[in-house]
Amino acid sequence: MEEQSVGPFANPIEHGFANHDELVAKVKSIAGYQPLFEQAFGAGNTTIELIAKAIASFQRTLLSGNSAYDQFGIGGNEMALSANAQNGFRVFVGKGQCLRCHFGFNFTDERFHNLGVDWDNDHIDVGRYGVTKNPKDLGAFKTPTLREVARTAPYMHDGRFATLRQVVDFYDQGGIPNPHIDPVIKPLNLTDL
Ligand code: HEC
Repeated sequence: MEEQSVGPFANPIEHGFANHDELVAKVKSIAGYQPLFEQAFGAGNTTIELIAKAIASFQRTLLSGNSAYDQFGIGGNEMALSANAQNGFRVFVGKGQCLRCHFGFNFTDERFHNLGVDWDNDHIDVGRYGVTKNPKDLGAFKTPTLREVARTAPYMHDGRFATLRQVVDFYDQGGIPNPHIDPVIKPLNLTDL
């Protein structure tokens, strides 16, 4: 967790610091952090190890469970979801076919799929292919969890959608057609419901 929490800082397509020294210098230059670092870790230098520890410790406090959906689905409490939400759930498991990829406690099959995100612009992110070099993986990204999803806008790997409605519209139109799109992704005609 510590390693993962600082990795993205020095990744050119994420935070884009040249290296972790540059990140440490940046954190040191923000006056508000100094007393907080001292309070948490005692007096001493702000180091990459402590920044990693701070972020990972925060992440360990993020627990997601016992949501309205869990109370409804696992707890069997029919009152936990509004009629509207229950309609949405029926689409999710039915016509929407969302469950084909978003299933289990974290709503993910932990696999990689091409939905066509990015294939409408001129610099396609090759996604999983970058790791496997398998043409099957061109433009494929890992199915993300849907836990807490209402709080984690923007959506998709390039952050193109600001709202969940836009995500649903994207699926409704069948993603963005391209030679490698996952065969499950097809126009849904949800408005006919
Ligand atoms: C073929 C597998 C597949 C199906 C079917 C599918 N998804 Fe996804 N979903 C993914 C993948 C992969 C991504 C990430 C795509 C990307 O970033 O390029 C994703 C992203 C999302 C996101 C954005 C999450 C985030 O944090 O950015 C939401 C919300 C979502 N899906 C909801 C749905 C809904 C609702 C349905 C049904 C209408 C659905 N998905 C059907 C695989 C699927």
